[in-house]
Amino acid sequence: MQDTKHTSPIDADDDAKRRNVHGRRLGRPLSPARKHALDKLLPTLKIAEEQYQTPAQLEPLDLFTDKTSPVWLEIGFGSGEHLRHVMKQESTTNFIGAEPYINGMSAFLKDVLEEDLPTDRLRVHMDDALMLVDAFKDHSLDGIYILNPDPWHKYRHHKRRIVRPETLDKYARILKQGGKLVMTSDVAALSEWMCMQAANHPSFKWTATNKSGWQDAPEGWQSTRYENKGRDAGRYQSYLIFERL
Ligand SMILES: C[S@@+](CC[C@H](N)C(=O)[O-])C[C@H]1O[C@@H](n2cnc3c(N)ncnc32)[C@H](O)[C@@H]1O
Repeated sequence: MQDTKHTSPIDADDDAKRRNVHGRRLGRPLSPARKHALDKLLPTLKIAEEQYQTPAQLEPLDLFTDKTSPVWLEIGFGSGEHLRHVMKQESTTNFIGAEPYINGMSAFLKDVLEEDLPTDRLRVHMDDALMLVDAFKDHSLDGIYILNPDPWHKYRHHKRRIVRPETLDKYARILKQGGKLVMTSDVAALSEWMCMQAANHPSFKWTATNKSGWQDAPEGWQSTRYENKGRDAGRYQSYLIFERL
């Protein structure tokens, strides 16, 4: 397989204006095993473009064979260690993973293949998660994970943050009543920002009742690559869990 096979859809970016992806989407060349996993799984697991063209019309359960189970979305799953963990932990939940970085997507799909995870409960999107978010029907998702999002430190870049008032409106629209928004970060300023924005949002309620409710990892938690890097560097992770009112 040629490298170009997976670079052309990104280079031929005819609807770039819709995208909210500001980081890298291509990195080092893919190993043969990752290319193989991408070739084998991406065509069947990716959500077809026509399904997310129309705003607020996509019923997430229509993407799965099991139409009764909850559906969770993980935005920016990196290499997917958390997503694979929750797939194993919650054996009846349907999961949608969005990650625009081809190296992350291919690493995840390689592990899915090698671990023989049940792909009937998995759909992926190798692009801006907000394209899907805008397409989902109102109150159609049970939960959203946003783990260690890019911090975009400079004030003028705050509008690039995946958690900001405008995107919280979108997450509130697609979450069911009682649905969860789970956000983490080891960047203190970003944790504070995400917490303040969500706590001030009329549709979300913070579930933490004491320090341990945001300083300690929830039971059974799988730490991500960024979380481990932060811990090794002596940083503390915050676990911010909000409920859709
Ligand atoms: C700092 S990394 C964290 C990765 C992973 N969640 C972890 O904790 O290890 C942020 C990730 O978000 C992804 N990302 C950035 N913008 C995104 C968007 N608009 N939609 C989906 N993913 C996005 C990046 O490609 C990157 O993999």
